[in-house]
Amino acid sequence: MYNTIYLDKVNLHFEEKKVLHNISFEVKPNIPKCIVGKGLSGKSTILKSIIGLIKISSGQIKVNNISVEDKKEFNEVVNSIGMVFEKDALFDSMKVWENIMFKSLNNDRTFLIKESQKLLKKVGLNVRDAFLYPSELSGGMRKRVAIARAISHKPKFLLLDEPTAGLDPVKTNMIFNIISNLCKEFNITMLTVSSDVKSALKHFKEFIVLDEAKIHWQGSRKEFLKKPTLLIKELL
Ligand SMILES: Nc1ncnc2c1ncn2[C@@H]1O[C@H](COP(=O)(O)OP(=O)(O)OP(=O)(O)O)[C@@H](O)[C@H]1O
Ligand SMILES: [Mg+2]
Repeated sequence: MYNTIYLDKVNLHFEEKKVLHNISFEVKPNIPKCIVGKGLSGKSTILKSIIGLIKISSGQIKVNNISVEDKKEFNEVVNSIGMVFEKDALFDSMKVWENIMFKSLNNDRTFLIKESQKLLKKVGLNVRDAFLYPSELSGGMRKRVAIARAISHKPKFLLLDEPTAGLDPVKTNMIFNIISNLCKEFNITMLTVSSDVKSALKHFKEFIVLDEAKIHWQGSRKEFLKKPTLLIKELL
């Protein structure tokens, strides 16, 4: 289906160790999905395999109907994906505007600064912040800059790995609000990993619970809260 992320019976092992086991799900436009689960359950590995950073052992991953195995065609798909990595991965030696516009730095400087400032406004930052270095930013600001960079090339897909890690509940809500609004505004297909289940519940309607490489549960927020399993209770 159009602009959908599709995983079918995905398995992945690193040497003997099974990191993803029989993972199947879909993410559709306008229905942002959130993956939750304990540490080392395989959450980040799912996102990395969707963008082709890690090769799966078997099964199928398709983004906008193109298989991750289809190297040539998938390269184009990758350009339509924005990703926020677990450790925000900003380049410390580059100013905020350079970080945000990293994918198109060969354009005119004044144009790039202006574009970065438009994006800064979208994530609730000040246009002056464009000239700061990452070391001069707070944790929440860094996350916002990472989101601004992820959407700088107007992606159709957004993958976010722990976009609110280390933030207080107020900043967490702000970030989730920003992300939800961006997805609505640009009709982005979004998949987020979050360890902050309580906050995520306020913003996502669909959840996947991962446990030791397997999908323990998937469904709507309503069901998630109505019949919580022992693991879900633990995560809450
Ligand atoms: N490149 C790699 N080589 C070998 N093992 C790996 C590699 N990447 C991840 N793993 C292993 O895969 C498992 C799942 O890791 P992953 O980072 O996906 O977990 P996670 O659910 O994101 O954890 P966390 O909540 O701590 O971020 C871990 O046991 C990890 O050690
Ligand atoms: Mg992780």
